[in-house]
Amino acid sequence: MDINLIQEEIKKDLAGVTSRQGLEEVRVKYLGRKGLLAELTGSIPFVPAEQRGVFGKQVNALKNSLLNQIEEKEKELTAKISVPDKNFQDIGMPGIVRMPGALHPITQMIDEICSIFNRMGFSVVEGPEVETEYNNFTGLNIPLDHPSRDAFDTFYLKKYSKLLLRSHTSPVQVRVMKAQKPPLAIIVPGRVYRPDAVDASHLFMFHQIEGLLVDTNIRFSDLKGTLELFAKGIFGQDIKMRFRPHFFPFTEPSAEVDISCIICKGKGCSVCGKKGWLEILGAGMIHPNVFKHVGYDSKKYTGFAFGMGIERIAMLKYGINDIRLFFENDLRFLKQF
Ligand code: DAH
Repeated sequence: MDINLIQEEIKKDLAGVTSRQGLEEVRVKYLGRKGLLAELTGSIPFVPAEQRGVFGKQVNALKNSLLNQIEEKEKELTAKISVPDKNFQDIGMPGIVRMPGALHPITQMIDEICSIFNRMGFSVVEGPEVETEYNNFTGLNIPLDHPSRDAFDTFYLKKYSKLLLRSHTSPVQVRVMKAQKPPLAIIVPGRVYRPDAVDASHLFMFHQIEGLLVDTNIRFSDLKGTLELFAKGIFGQDIKMRFRPHFFPFTEPSAEVDISCIICKGKGCSVCGKKGWLEILGAGMIHPNVFKHVGYDSKKYTGFAFGMGIERIAMLKYGINDIRLFFENDLRFLKQF
């Protein structure tokens, strides 16, 4: 048997291999139990004694060479598999799931509220989060020693004692009235800050929307009608509204506004604390002292203002029981909006 011829044949066989299965067939053909090498090894005892040593070595060398070649071929096949074929398209392969960004629920709530007031003719204005003590308090008829200041607990900027992080959006009223003459109707969304201990209904930063309308002959009934359109636009046409007398330094008369509980429809449940009503905002007719601070003639002009917490509105509308959820950025929460 010519070892060289066998070598040739092995080379030819391996050159034709294109798959693992093909390679396995070649391996079995030569190295299997009934393969060529087994046959050669089995024939060693029958080779004449003087040639046996040389023949045995040749068979051994052939076997080693064959093992090497198979290993090489195997590497070659593995490399091929990991390089994807450019022309191969698996149309059944799942696509790459893209997660497009979306507006934050608070932003969506702001947009929704603003669009309702836009339709009534209010325009959107913004103000700075760092405010003067004057705009945040004094201009709004909240004197320095007034106990109501406690209700608007405030972060002061250490280095600049007259500057603070606004504790409500109301100071924008002062800014706008100082810069513009009536008639005006504005809505002011934005962040506000209060040094509150964090719990399910308090954060040291949250959002408010302020409303302000000034003209001649503006009455409390205008405020009621405006807020009713707003509340029905957000919570549905079926809700009832009520105005409870309240005190705010910047409005007189002032009221807190409730809607009938959207969960129990006014019957009384755990969300409304068995009262059947949910407080949604504060409002009132602009106090003459505020007009005086901004240089408006309170004999000629009247107006109303209102302010609400946006997180609170969103929590009531969507049945969310913890304000912290808005700022944890958990996608499982955010994706629901
Ligand atoms: N600024 C008040 C607050 O933060 C909310 C408010 C109440 C605003 C009555 C108003 C208003 O403009 O008239 O609690």
